Amino acid sequence: MGRAKLKRFAVVAENRNVIEPGKELFTSIRGHWHEYFGNQNGIVLELGCGRGEYSTGLAAINPDKNYVGIDLKGARLWKGSVVAVENNLNNVAFLRTQIQNIDSFFADDEVSEIWITFPDPRPKDSDEKRRLTSPRYMALYRKIMKAGGVMNFKTDNLPLFEYTLEEVFPNQSLADLEFTKDLYNSPLLDLHHKIQTTFEKKYLNNREKINYLRCRLV
Ligand SMILES: C[S@@+](CC[C@H](N)C(=O)[O-])C[C@H]1O[C@@H](n2cnc3c(N)ncnc32)[C@H](O)[C@@H]1O
Repeated sequence: MGRAKLKRFAVVAENRNVIEPGKELFTSIRGHWHEYFGNQNGIVLELGCGRGEYSTGLAAINPDKNYVGIDLKGARLWKGSVVAVENNLNNVAFLRTQIQNIDSFFADDEVSEIWITFPDPRPKDSDEKRRLTSPRYMALYRKIMKAGGVMNFKTDNLPLFEYTLEEVFPNQSLADLEFTKDLYNSPLLDLHHKIQTTFEKKYLNNREKINYLRCRLV
């Protein structure tokens, strides 16, 4: 492993705002996020957050909400952790784990909103259950989210977006579904809060269209 990566892991191990294996909170945080943040404000997750642009960006815009970015890669979470410390964002934390285990880290109804930002598309049929919008993941989100909680989903990948809308959503109980297959030419543009993730910038450089949807899980 390179020296830069080792340094990043050391920072992540030191920073209170990263909860990862080996830290006491990693096994005790479930059901205690409000105590961790020291308030009763709503808890919003960014799933597969990478460098955590939505977690830190939204935390700065909405000081009355708490944000948790989740990813399995510590070297990526390092960036979000450092941005949060440098900007005194006490309403953001990062959790290093696999999303398929989130119900071990959040109790039933503990979460108000989720953002799924540019997940790996998993195009093979045999990988369907690994897609972050597959029925298996939707069931997990419902377990940890309050009734009526909000789901946001942004992707460059049209087949994944259409799979979600056409194959998954017809079997889900949803309300207030809004979507666009061209976010930057859509009246929904304001809903993305002008935040662009690392992967989104790459796709925009390639002139790809960005798909976005928002709905409530009821
Ligand atoms: C294509 S990247 C997008 C990162 C970021 N959201 C962005 O838009 O720049 C997908 C991210 O999801 C993470 N990831 C993929 N599968 C995951 C899983 N099962 N649990 C946790 N993180 C996962 C990867 O480590 C990676 O950082």
